[in-house]
Amino acid sequence: MSANTNQPDWDTLAEKFDVFLPQLAPVGEALLEALDARPGERILDVASGTGEPALSLARLQPQVEISGVDAAAGMVRVAQKKVTAAGLRNISFSAMPAEQLSYADNHFDRVLSRFGVMLFEDPLRGCQEMQRVLKPGGRIALAVWSTPETMTTLQWAMQVFKDRVPEEHQPPMAKVTLLGQPGVFDTLLRRSGFTAVKVTPARFNYHYTSFDDYWRSIEASDILKQQFDALAAGQRGSVRDDFARLARGYQSAHGLVIPHEFLLAVGSK
Ligand SMILES: C[S@@+](CC[C@H](N)C(=O)[O-])C[C@H]1O[C@@H](n2cnc3c(N)ncnc32)[C@H](O)[C@@H]1O
Repeated sequence: MSANTNQPDWDTLAEKFDVFLPQLAPVGEALLEALDARPGERILDVASGTGEPALSLARLQPQVEISGVDAAAGMVRVAQKKVTAAGLRNISFSAMPAEQLSYADNHFDRVLSRFGVMLFEDPLRGCQEMQRVLKPGGRIALAVWSTPETMTTLQWAMQVFKDRVPEEHQPPMAKVTLLGQPGVFDTLLRRSGFTAVKVTPARFNYHYTSFDDYWRSIEASDILKQQFDALAAGQRGSVRDDFARLARGYQSAHGLVIPHEFLLAVGSK
């Protein structure tokens, strides 16, 4: 874990991250639609995690050649295992920080990233690297989280842990929503050299059959491991109860439906 950003340890989480993939699927679909990849093109997915949405693109379009990169070697291992298991020949993953891409200038036709850019250690440098490896006329499609008030489940975590764990173990709201305020992401992308930048907020829902279903995924994913580890003995049950109370307002006939907002950016070079 990096002390200044308080992010989860992505390497340790890698084997468990897939619990979230069904919830994030609508964002992947929106990104792939905005990316609009064509046969024969080279695509880069930055901060590719356990492989989505790059793997979906590889399956949908066997004629595109996809590279995925992530700073966490554990994430890359999980993604690459899926490539081997599925026998996909048009995609591969490598461990590489966004700030130091090993590709030549003007190498890719399109670059995408889902929920990566705000987590980069140096978002400007990472975006400049994406711009450098993109061909002139190429296209980006990037998703980042929006403002704190639209991050419903992270808001719950902020409230529940506020008076229970020390400052250095609070959930990473500031980092996760770093680019969410109006104008911030647009400015970053323009400063990185992208043109025709357009940033659009979009809403989607997490769907769980019940609060128990949601809580199982929180425990199975270890996403709040740092906060749980910092709790005083015997507090875990009351933490669950507080989450359940906050979730109550989101119960519907369809189970637990929890809205979140992201920003979808497109641009070119
Ligand atoms: C929330 S996960 C998203 C993973 C995947 N894109 C998805 O949507 O399922 C964020 C990912 O960003 C990666 N990451 C964080 N900082 C990075 C950096 N500087 N360069 C490359 N990857 C980074 C983490 O290792 C993690 O896999």
